[in-house]
Amino acid sequence: MAHDHGHHGHGHGPDHGHQHGHGDGNLAQMLDLDAVVLHDFYREVIGWAGSLVAGDPRIVDLGAGTGVGTFALARALPGAQVTAVDMDEDMLGRIRHRAAAEGLGDRVRTVRADLDGDWPELGPADLVWASASMHHLADPARTLAQIHATLRPGGALMITELDAFPTFLGGSADAALEERCHAVLARLRLEAGMHMGEDWGARLKAAGFDPEGERRFDIELRAPLPDQAVRYAQVTLERTRHRIEEHLTGDDVARLDAIVATLPERPDLTIRATRDVWIGRRPANA
Ligand SMILES: C[S@@+](CC[C@H](N)C(=O)[O-])C[C@H]1O[C@@H](n2cnc3c(N)ncnc32)[C@H](O)[C@@H]1O
Repeated sequence: MAHDHGHHGHGHGPDHGHQHGHGDGNLAQMLDLDAVVLHDFYREVIGWAGSLVAGDPRIVDLGAGTGVGTFALARALPGAQVTAVDMDEDMLGRIRHRAAAEGLGDRVRTVRADLDGDWPELGPADLVWASASMHHLADPARTLAQIHATLRPGGALMITELDAFPTFLGGSADAALEERCHAVLARLRLEAGMHMGEDWGARLKAAGFDPEGERRFDIELRAPLPDQAVRYAQVTLERTRHRIEEHLTGDDVARLDAIVATLPERPDLTIRATRDVWIGRRPANA
């Protein structure tokens, strides 16, 4: 990775943190595959986002990563201007490259910022989109206050979160191993102070937003799975293995390696994922 953000306590947790060398391209690949594999969920949620805005909306994508949300929103809303914010310059570079390649350079801009620090001027926004990023930020109440100030009165915030990684081996003989891995990941997340499993609905109310919708998406994709879904499972399990190998027995690590190597031949590979979505609106008079 080109830039070291190691001074920073959050955003480096067990799930989506940054490792030198192995981790970053891998995270980028996982985020891009996530969008491909969960395309029905994305279609629905992007449609929902589109229903919250009118005209030529100004959108801010917080913790944009590779720009999955940025590009889906820019494509779905041809009048939209999207500002992609992230502290990872490598991610922002990918977004600029893709924006230019897709002829969206005039509607997508990138801003580098550590959202736990002072925020640059990002508003006024009609929509703030935060997908799998809120849990990285150190102080949810402070972040929500900053989003409130970034939105125009009447503007909407859409939060998407996941409370765990997807599973791939449920119901198979390897399910117990996968559960052990998830238990380690959950413990490391807790130790890293990540805000997974938050009740964002309650937090939105406390921060002065009008709650406007909340929905859980349970996603299940069964074999035969397309190649990209198998690749997604491989990349995710590889990341898990490298993150937690020192917390696993040698046998478990060896088994994980064997599972990753033979995933394409497994008839029982099943992707199960959940996403929770909350909408909050800054009141028109506040
Ligand atoms: C799990 S990724 C989600 C990316 C994207 N929103 C998506 O749904 O595919 C989280 C992103 O948040 C960024 N991030 C984490 N902590 C941050 C912080 N303090 N300030 C800015 N960005 C941060 C990371 O660099 C990463 O790109």
